[in-house]
Amino acid sequence: MDFLSLLQQTRSVRRFDHSQKLSDEILSSILESVRFVPSARNAQTLKYKIVNRQEQCDDLFPLLAWAGYLNDWKGPKKEEQPVAYIIVCQDNTLSPTSVVDEGIVLQTLQLMAKSKGVSSCILGAFDRQKVKEMFLLDSSIEVRYILALGFGVETVVVEDMIENQSIKYWRDEQEIHHVPKRKLKDLLL
Ligand SMILES: Cc1cc2nc3c(=O)[nH]c(=O)nc-3n(C[C@H](O)[C@H](O)[C@H](O)COP(=O)(O)O)c2cc1C
Repeated sequence: MDFLSLLQQTRSVRRFDHSQKLSDEILSSILESVRFVPSARNAQTLKYKIVNRQEQCDDLFPLLAWAGYLNDWKGPKKEEQPVAYIIVCQDNTLSPTSVVDEGIVLQTLQLMAKSKGVSSCILGAFDRQKVKEMFLLDSSIEVRYILALGFGVETVVVEDMIENQSIKYWRDEQEIHHVPKRKLKDLLL
């Protein structure tokens, strides 16, 4: 698959096949990608917590907020919840990080996962302190973002956004998730 196709197909997916688990091996193979990304001053201060045991996933799920624009949807039902998470953390013993590092890492993980057929969603809306306590993370570790993972069971389509129309994603009656994206001409100054 060429790079643009991979990027176009790497959408935020929030409904997964709960029966298809993700092993430590596949999660490690996805994480291998972050070793090769750029970081400010090459400091490599981000660390990762893999969560894929059922009890851990069940404990983490209630702390997460899903698809804020979909007012009548409270998140995936039990059979469609993520089967794994990667918690992206900053290790303060190393060096102050750049917020850009987190973005690079999250996008790289999403692309790497998709290249293996695994869908994902970046999650930023959650109580970081509670997650830190749940996984008994050291005081020097700061929780930043979570990537939810699994084999997707929803259809997500990207659509050209009409200038000045809503940026809000929406779902139709068939539960297809639509994501408006600005056209290139509307991004150029
Ligand atoms: C920094 C960041 C934080 C996000 N936090 C959440 C979140 O807490 N919950 C959620 O359902 N989606 C979250 N998303 C996913 C966005 O809603 C999604 O990227 C956006 O709707 C565009 O869809 P797309 O990723 O398919 O292009 C987040 C994305 C980013 C980049």
